[in-house]
Amino acid sequence: NLPKEVTIIEVGPRDGLQNIKEWIPTTAKINFIKNLKDAGIQEMELTSFVSPKWVPQMKDASEVISLSLDNNTRNIVLVPNARGISRLYETDCKNAAVFVGVSDSFNKKNINKTTEESMQELTPLIAKLKEKGYWIRACISTSFYCPYEGKVEVEKVVSLCKRFEELGVDELSVADTIGMANPKEVFELFSILKNTLVKLQITAHFHNTRGMALANVFAALQAGVDRFDTSAGGLGGCPFAPGASGNVATEDVVHMLNQIGIETGVDIDKIVHALNSMKEHIAKPFESSLYKLASLQ
Ligand code: HMG
Ligand code: MG
Repeated sequence: NLPKEVTIIEVGPRDGLQNIKEWIPTTAKINFIKNLKDAGIQEMELTSFVSPKWVPQMKDASEVISLSLDNNTRNIVLVPNARGISRLYETDCKNAAVFVGVSDSFNKKNINKTTEESMQELTPLIAKLKEKGYWIRACISTSFYCPYEGKVEVEKVVSLCKRFEELGVDELSVADTIGMANPKEVFELFSILKNTLVKLQITAHFHNTRGMALANVFAALQAGVDRFDTSAGGLGGCPFAPGASGNVATEDVVHMLNQIGIETGVDIDKIVHALNSMKEHIAKPFESSLYKLASLQ
């Protein structure tokens, strides 16, 4: 029983660009966001309020937000800590994404805190965001494997997800940060999450490091997931997860879904157009199958 419609949450402007070393001009980022919205994207991670010393590519976050907010899209910004949230409060963006790793070692490398320390900091901050009427997503990193600790236990993932449910977040984005999960593990975890966290929107976030992301999308669909984080051109990867490569490509996911009769409202040709507008700023080739095919025509 597959869903008839799927929501694509485009993470290209954030996950896709954060790991690119060469500076991408703010105007190019804004243009990319606009072109992705023109392609039918309804929800998007625009950027992140993280330390510019840790992730220099995101240092223009305030400007990117102020020049790309609109009323037709759920515009989301990543915030790791109190400083990130106070920067968010200075903008008109009302959708926050907090992010925590299930594994301590990864969370330490990514945000310089243990998982528990991050939860302690985030608990009152989430309460405040809710009080102010913000929509909140929680990104759960290393939900299958950790680059430092290996296999992550399902019970640990479910228990962290439940804590976020208790805090009252709206959505969980459950991530295979280093692209090591297989379809069997994906089906198992998402079946549990869909059955236990019935009030929350559950989204799957796959990286394609070992070429299994599309298979994992299908396994998640079978478990009842109808929301996927994807990145145009298959860009992406966390700078603090060694070996992590790009997210599953928006155009490849949309193509697969189209072929099996699932609607997304996203136009593949327009995604390709959005990518072409970024080509001069991104040295590495776009990895997606559908982009390569479009380039041959
Ligand atoms: P820290 O060094 O421990 O921070 O870094 P601190 O609290 O000690 O502060 C040090 C300095 O940073 C201070 O400035 C703060 O003001 C400043 P100074 O006094 O030295 O001038 N600072 C900030 N500046 C701007 N924005 C902020 C901020 N916070 C502190 N929010 C910190 C801690 C969290 C800042 C750092 O570790 C960091 O920025 N990490 C971000 C890492 C990141 O962006 N990772 C990628 C995104 S997550 C991801 O990709 C995974 C995901 O896709 C899902 C998946 O695939 O798994 C979501
Ligand atoms: Mg990611």
